[in-house]
Amino acid sequence: MAKVQDSVIGAPNPSAKPQDFSKSRDLQSRAHRLIPGGAHTYAKGDDQYPERAPAFIVRGKGCHVWDVDGNEFIEYGMGLRAVTLGHAYQPVIEAAYHQMQLGSNFTRPAEIEVDLAASFLEIIEGAEMVKFATNGSDVTTAAVKLARAFTGRDLVAICADQPFFSTDDWFIGTTELNAGIPQSITEMTLRFRYNDLENLRILFDQHPGRIACVVMEPEAAIPPAAGYLQGVKELCAERGALLIFDEMITGFRWHLGGGQKFHGVVPHLSTFGKAMGNGFAISALAGPREVMRLGGLDHDQPRVFLLSTTHGAETHALAASLETLRTYREQQVVEFLWKQGERLRSLIDQSVAENHLEGFFELMGRPCNLVFATCDRDGKRSQFFRALFLQEMIRRGVIAPSFVVSFSHTDSDIERTGQAVDGALSVYRRALDEGIEKYLEGRPVKPVNRRFN
Ligand SMILES: Cc1ncc(COP(=O)(O)O)c(C=O)c1O
Repeated sequence: MAKVQDSVIGAPNPSAKPQDFSKSRDLQSRAHRLIPGGAHTYAKGDDQYPERAPAFIVRGKGCHVWDVDGNEFIEYGMGLRAVTLGHAYQPVIEAAYHQMQLGSNFTRPAEIEVDLAASFLEIIEGAEMVKFATNGSDVTTAAVKLARAFTGRDLVAICADQPFFSTDDWFIGTTELNAGIPQSITEMTLRFRYNDLENLRILFDQHPGRIACVVMEPEAAIPPAAGYLQGVKELCAERGALLIFDEMITGFRWHLGGGQKFHGVVPHLSTFGKAMGNGFAISALAGPREVMRLGGLDHDQPRVFLLSTTHGAETHALAASLETLRTYREQQVVEFLWKQGERLRSLIDQSVAENHLEGFFELMGRPCNLVFATCDRDGKRSQFFRALFLQEMIRRGVIAPSFVVSFSHTDSDIERTGQAVDGALSVYRRALDEGIEKYLEGRPVKPVNRRFN
């Protein structure tokens, strides 16, 4: 596809020099030889970004990052929403570093495991016990196992309108990327529609006494209808299933107390990760003593193997999390995320209107978690136009797979992003009018969950 001149409308890139991606290109071919997919996380992979993009990052500070070629960018999403305070956030680094010097993994538990458990449970009010792990997938899978053990049932009901719950077979089996997963495992996971209580009720009716748990995010891009979440909880209670809220994204972002506090609906079990440790590997499964104790040593039921791993509670990650939670509490971080997101939303809305892109470029979600959808001339979701928008944002010094802000996105970063959006959307408009092949350099991006390359 044709090249657009570098003299573009909108903000100059922060490094204020022509962008060069030659080192990225070299490293990409090496990476693909050594690592399947060229990256250790699909969502960071090359197929998620246009051809004209930084492929490897060397360092970050606040919401700014520098790639291997020395280009500087403002970025959004930040560690797939894990880095809520900012890259290399000094108090968190110092807490982790101090703890590392004392040792990170012992033969017996470390004292800090109890400290973080107490601090976490003060914030997540509905929970009485918590168990830590290193990623979100493990804790959500553990919640499912615990629910199966507690209820003595096998089936799991997941929300079909939400994109991700775990890397494990019970969930990935339901996606397009299900190669290698036995059909018998997939058959044990059922799907229901968000904001449709009747749909869930029918699922319970079709499988009486067999559904162990309902797994869902309290909210994703679409807010719950009035009474919906409460209705789900009541339905679960009525049918003897446990309600599991996956708070990987809503946790510490919608509200300090999670989506459950924001919506005033306490689930039976909830799982957290991402925002817990400002990028350090830490996650949590939390719930009432009555259920969580099945993973403990003080009951006479069959024991549940609940999250026991070698790296499950490394002390530096726990120290980072303690400091991260302290910062959230003392510095009104969540309020800041909402405020900056709102500021950004109004700039983007203005630019969409000015470029007459209503129905083509759609900003969605709460201010603390803004995402966007791109449509083609026929109003259909388009990976070509997503690639074009990402390309034009990158050209203007912003990596924006979403507009998920952090505590480090200052007013001037937001302002600069607004200018970049304005420039990118004016190209988008022209591409709609004149044909995208005139503007997109190379291939489109692709959805992560697809069966074939
Ligand atoms: C809602 C949700 N649940 C669970 C996970 C899995 O977390 P992890 O990647 O830490 O295993 C993710 C990851 O993106 C997620 O977005």
